[in-house]
Amino acid sequence: MESNRRLWLKQIGLGVAGIGLANLQPFALPTQGFAKFSPNDLTIKLSSNENPYGPSPLARAAMIESINISNRYNWQLTTELVQTLSKKNNVNTNNILMGAGSTEMLDLVTRLSALKKGSFIIADPSYNYWTDTAEKLGLTKITVPLTADKKLNLDAMLKAIKADTKLIYICNPNNPTGSICDRDQLVKFIKEATKKTIVLVDEAYIDFTEQQSLSALAIENKNLIVAKTFSKIYGLAGARIGYAIANVKTIEQLSELKSWSNGSISIASTAAALASLKDEKFTSETYSLNQKARQFTTDQLKKLNLVCIPSNTNFLYFSLANYKKDYFEQLKTNNIIGTKIYEEQGKWTRITVGTMQEMQKFISAIV
Ligand SMILES: Cc1ncc(COP(=O)(O)O)c(C=O)c1O
Repeated sequence: MESNRRLWLKQIGLGVAGIGLANLQPFALPTQGFAKFSPNDLTIKLSSNENPYGPSPLARAAMIESINISNRYNWQLTTELVQTLSKKNNVNTNNILMGAGSTEMLDLVTRLSALKKGSFIIADPSYNYWTDTAEKLGLTKITVPLTADKKLNLDAMLKAIKADTKLIYICNPNNPTGSICDRDQLVKFIKEATKKTIVLVDEAYIDFTEQQSLSALAIENKNLIVAKTFSKIYGLAGARIGYAIANVKTIEQLSELKSWSNGSISIASTAAALASLKDEKFTSETYSLNQKARQFTTDQLKKLNLVCIPSNTNFLYFSLANYKKDYFEQLKTNNIIGTKIYEEQGKWTRITVGTMQEMQKFISAIV
């Protein structure tokens, strides 16, 4: 045990003569058994669109190093992260609000929108983890079906705006379908829709595409909010870090709904995010490995005669209408965790793109 501890300290660059050894002791032992909270070698988790390769090596090192300063509040490191993100996104630092994942941003935007009662608009199906809260806060849900090819129907969403509409949610690319809006059409849509209501564009999966983010448009437009996350291509889902980009006034309004603006991110997640932004090798590898595994899976699903929507993300949306076996039973017997049926009509389901090896096992499980 002692030699394990010494090795561990050496690995994190402290050595036996390192600083604050006594303080570190509770955190320094490597054998806390956290691995049991991750899927074991026998289980393949393809349900939550996580990055199967992450966190990046630099992010792992940064998290370990940051343990040593986690007795302090996080002001300076947060400032550095916000500065880095402002450069990356071509916005000012006061256009950014940090949170514990983009979930927190979705929640804040929901609460801002619900300050005055009314309705909100969301495509169906789309990412809807936040909509129950919206309804509990008194907003009425208006759903707009996708087009036949499973894209957001922007025209219909525009037409769905009522006098009392407070929020339109645009997931681009869309979860669970993986489809993406044409950028010019989306910009036009935003120009019109934001005359009447807040538009929240969720760009959780934009890094898996070549499409330019809409974040720069948000600087001048008080009704446009762009949500971003480190959970996907950066592989930090469990670290819980994301952010919103919006007009200064809008950021102020969102911040007022938090007791401590930027206060919900830990020093470990902040350090991880900063390191991840530097690790371009990791993100570009994730991008291309995802593309290859996605292409393989798409081709194989097509060979099985299953209709599959072209994906711009790290997941695939396909129909089980032609599938002859019990898909969920096949997954279960092969220890694969998938998702549910999203649209009963057409029997559409979603699978996360894991590593090539995982996707080969997935395909073998369902053939
Ligand atoms: C479209 C979309 N938005 C937001 C989230 C939440 O992500 P985070 O981990 O940043 O809270 C997810 C998670 O899967 C998602 O798919």
